[in-house]
Amino acid sequence: MKKIVTQPEQRAFFEDVANGRSADDRNGSSFSDPSFAVNKRAPVHRWVPWIAGFSKDFVSDAICRHLQKPGVILDPFAGVGTTLVEAVLRGHDAVGFEINPYAVLATRAKTSAYLVSLSHFKTAVKKFELFYLRALKTGYEPESKPPVGFHTRAEFYSPKVLHKVLVVQDFVQGKVSGITKDLFALAFAATMVSYSNYSYEPSLSRRASAGKTDILDFDVGKTVLRKLSEMAEDIRWLSQNMNQRVPRAEIWNDSFFNCRQFMTGGTVDLVVTSPPYLNNYHYNRNTRPQLYWLNFAQSSKDFVPLEQQNFGKYWQTVRGGKRIDLDFPEPDAGIVRCLDLIREQKPEKGVYGGNGWANYAASYFNDCYRFAKVVKWTLRRRGTALVVIGNNIIQGVMVPTDRFLARIADAAGLEVIDIHIPRETRVGNSIIQSKVRVTKAKKSHRLYEAVVELRKR
Ligand SMILES: C[S@@+](CC[C@H](N)C(=O)[O-])C[C@H]1O[C@@H](n2cnc3c(N)ncnc32)[C@H](O)[C@@H]1O
Repeated sequence: MKKIVTQPEQRAFFEDVANGRSADDRNGSSFSDPSFAVNKRAPVHRWVPWIAGFSKDFVSDAICRHLQKPGVILDPFAGVGTTLVEAVLRGHDAVGFEINPYAVLATRAKTSAYLVSLSHFKTAVKKFELFYLRALKTGYEPESKPPVGFHTRAEFYSPKVLHKVLVVQDFVQGKVSGITKDLFALAFAATMVSYSNYSYEPSLSRRASAGKTDILDFDVGKTVLRKLSEMAEDIRWLSQNMNQRVPRAEIWNDSFFNCRQFMTGGTVDLVVTSPPYLNNYHYNRNTRPQLYWLNFAQSSKDFVPLEQQNFGKYWQTVRGGKRIDLDFPEPDAGIVRCLDLIREQKPEKGVYGGNGWANYAASYFNDCYRFAKVVKWTLRRRGTALVVIGNNIIQGVMVPTDRFLARIADAAGLEVIDIHIPRETRVGNSIIQSKVRVTKAKKSHRLYEAVVELRKR
């Protein structure tokens, strides 16, 4: 067990982390690397890629450390369900909240797949293969149509690819039902960008802009079948690896901030979560194809609530409005100074300058406070919350988001146990709208991922 940081030690503790000395340097224990990469090969987790998901090894490590007997595990920002899947695999009840309906479909399918009969699933896969091959051979005219509201700058699917996609849609919409239908829909959604003229770079971009050629034709059926066979293998794996106790898994397609409508306070033993980072990664835009093709969105209006509810909102939604300040009691002076510094950057750039980014950071930290308050409400006494978060560089200003979150959680009445730094160098979309490139930034700022460990007193 980790050393508990008491009140008087807390300042020194925050300073240690500020000076680049991680908690793990100090007390010699460490969590697994929280990055998603390991999930790409792991049963069930491998079904759906998700930007900024975290590794199942980190989650299982956390569960084993903190819960010795069956309990309730919550992920307020469930994504594609890494925490929920690991929780149920270990016989714990799991509750999740997620605003993106595609991610909710993934989490629901993954946590209920153990209920599917493998032989029925395999029969459905075989039927799909025959249906698809026959359709291609006979010049079949699909009944399905591309979603009307889905507009893209370049043609999303080339005509030959589109025909095959519509054949797949006909099968998914008309020939399967229940959890099996969810699994088929997921097999399509998880692969659908790979045969489109778009790709994740890591944001969704035209292939042409990333120097890649368009995809004129593609064996769509084979790719979907490969995903379905992976699922079949993992359904078998689940039947061999599910814990004896059949747990309860609930995923709510709603904002965590509304959780009081769905659950009872003081019932959660462990929170394992990763909120959106302060890097403006746009979950909604990047899942537009899946949201439209799965019929979760019919027009751009359907994205407005998702943008409003997203933790910290998005820079695009707050950059141009009136000044946003921290709105919780007695905000820490370090956070206020950091926001002031961001606000001073590049005033000549208007909404693209520091003021817009400071608005975004302020609304992010305001949500950190709301988050800490609500987490405190959900936890049992002595319950733990592990929050994976990275630091950020905004307009060239280093933001120690993990330390700020810890200070905010402290102000919201949670006990800060520790900040672990399992991952020291994070690259990629950490630098936002800044002239500072990752390589250049690394010289002066260390990028890391942290686990902020909090506890209800
Ligand atoms: C970093 S991802 C979590 C990934 C997850 N750990 C996994 O492994 O799949 C953050 C998620 O929070 C979701 N989200 C953002 N704001 C939310 C809110 N207010 N309530 C619930 N979910 C939210 C986003 O849609 C996104 O899927």
